[in-house]
Amino acid sequence: MRLQGRTAIITGAGSGIGRASAKLFAEEGARLALVDRDAAGLEETRRLAGEATTHVGDVGDAAFAETVVGDVMTRHGGLDILMTAAGFSCGGTVLTTSPDDWDAVFRANVGGTWLWARAAVPHMQRQNSGSIITLASQLAIAGGKGNSAYIAAKGAIVSLTRTMAVDFATDGIRVNAIAPGAIETPMLRRSFARHANAEEVREASRNRHAMKRFGQAEEIAQTALHLASDASSFTTGTVMVVDGGWLAA
Ligand SMILES: NC(=O)c1ccc[n+]([C@@H]2O[C@H](COP(=O)([O-])OP(=O)(O)OC[C@H]3O[C@@H](n4cnc5c(N)ncnc54)[C@H](O)[C@@H]3O)[C@@H](O)[C@H]2O)c1
Repeated sequence: MRLQGRTAIITGAGSGIGRASAKLFAEEGARLALVDRDAAGLEETRRLAGEATTHVGDVGDAAFAETVVGDVMTRHGGLDILMTAAGFSCGGTVLTTSPDDWDAVFRANVGGTWLWARAAVPHMQRQNSGSIITLASQLAIAGGKGNSAYIAAKGAIVSLTRTMAVDFATDGIRVNAIAPGAIETPMLRRSFARHANAEEVREASRNRHAMKRFGQAEEIAQTALHLASDASSFTTGTVMVVDGGWLAA
């Protein structure tokens, strides 16, 4: 068991990639604190993962992050892994994205990375160990059409990941991003549903991958497990692209 005795916080655990990672981390022996604003989704993940604490709230809320990290420290006396998978996109160019939507996307994606790292790092520094895993996107590297707030936020997460990796490397803390291609989750389904020709857009997206298929949440969870475990002990400041050949094609 690759995470035996380790404690992990996973945000966005109520669905998709966060849920699949929670399930896999539990199978590998981790003690879990699961975070999401969707109480029902979170409860379903807890059922699938087995024993875990659940914490319902907005990841963009600094006090919520501090409270959850504090609870984990009280219960377990340590925090080994932080995975910040909560996020969402709203679609739109800079002309069609409202300031409120822009702020909400940045609050969840960038705030949901920064504030949780801010709460977790002091404890990891005291332990002189820790692994932080952030969620970017292949679009942060390549760009993309009609999704400006989300792509800008994911670009910020890449930069934030690298800068945190450098700032805390000598504290024994590793910080890495995963940049998935299109992964079949509720979020992907919602993003296609925004288009009038949803089925056409879906097929074009699928075919844009060299492997001519979408990824599965479980495939991203395997990369998260690698980054969470000692198997990646010399890996920090990287962006692991897991995109079925999307960027290469
Ligand atoms: N699915 C993809 O194709 C894809 C590709 C690249 C990157 N990603 C990233 O992976 C991560 C997980 O995405 P997913 O596909 O599993 O999506 P998902 O919608 O299935 O799950 C995301 C979860 O985050 C939660 N969440 C969103 N905003 C929140 C907030 N402010 N506070 C608390 N919880 C919040 C949602 O309730 C949901 O349960 C996201 O950061 C996403 O941007 C996904």
